[in-house]
Amino acid sequence: MRNSYAVITGASSGIGEEFARRLCGSFRLILVARRRERLERLAEELNGQGGHCAVIAADLSEEEACFRLMEELRGKRISVFINNAGSGVCGSFLDTDLEGELGMIGVNVRAVHILTKLVLQKMRRQGGGRLLNVASSAGLLPAGPYMAAYYASKAYVVSLTRAAARELKGQGLPVYVGALCPGPVDTEFGDVAGVAFALRSITAQRCVDCALRGMRRGKTVIVPTVLIKLAATMGRLAPPSVSVRITEMQQKKKLGGQKTGQM
Ligand SMILES: NC(=O)c1ccc[n+]([C@@H]2O[C@H](COP(=O)([O-])OP(=O)(O)OC[C@H]3O[C@@H](n4cnc5c(N)ncnc54)[C@H](OP(=O)(O)O)[C@@H]3O)[C@@H](O)[C@H]2O)c1
Repeated sequence: MRNSYAVITGASSGIGEEFARRLCGSFRLILVARRRERLERLAEELNGQGGHCAVIAADLSEEEACFRLMEELRGKRISVFINNAGSGVCGSFLDTDLEGELGMIGVNVRAVHILTKLVLQKMRRQGGGRLLNVASSAGLLPAGPYMAAYYASKAYVVSLTRAAARELKGQGLPVYVGALCPGPVDTEFGDVAGVAFALRSITAQRCVDCALRGMRRGKTVIVPTVLIKLAATMGRLAPPSVSVRITEMQQKKKLGGQKTGQM
């Protein structure tokens, strides 16, 4: 534990906060997100229980913030990196706010890409390490009408992770990379994205349980719950046009009263 760190992005709430609680007995933690007070409150609580937590407030949708974070990690052995920070934008593609979507792509895609590359390079130099990208079951489906950019962003994460994992295995490197693909999880995500889940959600605790088990087993794509595994398999096997129509129906349920732009 002395110089062995776990870094968790998006640790100020939800899945990231739960990862922090679970990993704090085994590693020194570096907690990253924009809301400093939330991070500091969590760090104080975990430090009070014998943990070693430091906090970095950063808006990872800004490229520079990702490079600054890597600078802060210089000289530290990163045993685990949870690339979890992310958000969703919901609504008709023609009506959603472009700035908001670009911010989401900044954190869901650009930051995940930059940090995946730089952290894996660091882990190769260290001679080991484990990196988990928190994607979504959305990333396993062909497309998500009414949450178009979010689904596309998570598909990017799954594809990038699968390819990187294959390369690491092929090169015999002792470095793990995986993608966590949950369905609905009960966090602040729905409030931020302005959606109500169409399927029953699981707790962040259960989600992180599955994630840690999957990481221990070296699974590249980790899908918590049988229902979501089934939905993802059906989504893959059905013709894309059918799968996209079904996803559209589910997404419209999530939007509730929101305008879908349908005439
Ligand atoms: N909840 C679900 O149903 C669900 C399902 C599948 C996948 N996921 C994925 O799980 C991950 C965690 O989400 P969650 O469900 O735990 O939601 P959450 O409670 O809203 O947590 C999101 C975290 O990401 C951080 N974050 C967002 N934008 C950021 C930015 N620009 N820079 C730095 N940190 C940022 C937030 O912190 P600050 O606001 O303090 O910056 C927060 O800590 C996301 O990648 C999400 O796409 C969630």
